Amino acid sequence: MSYIVMDPCIKCKFMDCVEVCPVDCFYEGENFLAINPDECIDCGVCEPECPVDAIKPDMEDDADGKWLKLNADYSKVWPNITVKGTPPADRAEFETETGKLEKYFSEKPGRGS
Ligand code: SF4
Ligand code: F3S
Repeated sequence: MSYIVMDPCIKCKFMDCVEVCPVDCFYEGENFLAINPDECIDCGVCEPECPVDAIKPDMEDDADGKWLKLNADYSKVWPNITVKGTPPADRAEFETETGKLEKYFSEKPGRGS
């Protein structure tokens, strides 16, 4: 099992999650973070840190497992992030929106830290 980052993170990217991870397994995209499922030790401490409840155990993934795959794929190519950066200034506009993957997801890497 692993924890995974899901749709609410997209364009919100608070980054409150990264500093509590004991194994530093968050990776930064332009508007989303991914967890490396092979590195995650399932401690669960990141889950309550996210203000928009974007982090869930992988058993709560969609039926097709798309979020686990997305986390696995992008955590391999994006830079590691361990220090909270500045969240997007317009994040409040996207906090309650759903279906953000199809509308906004960016494959571009973030800066990492
Ligand atoms: Fe890191 Fe623990 Fe969250 Fe996994 S569950 S990403 S090990 S803080
Ligand atoms: Fe994303 Fe929540 Fe972390 S919005 S960056 S999963 S604190």
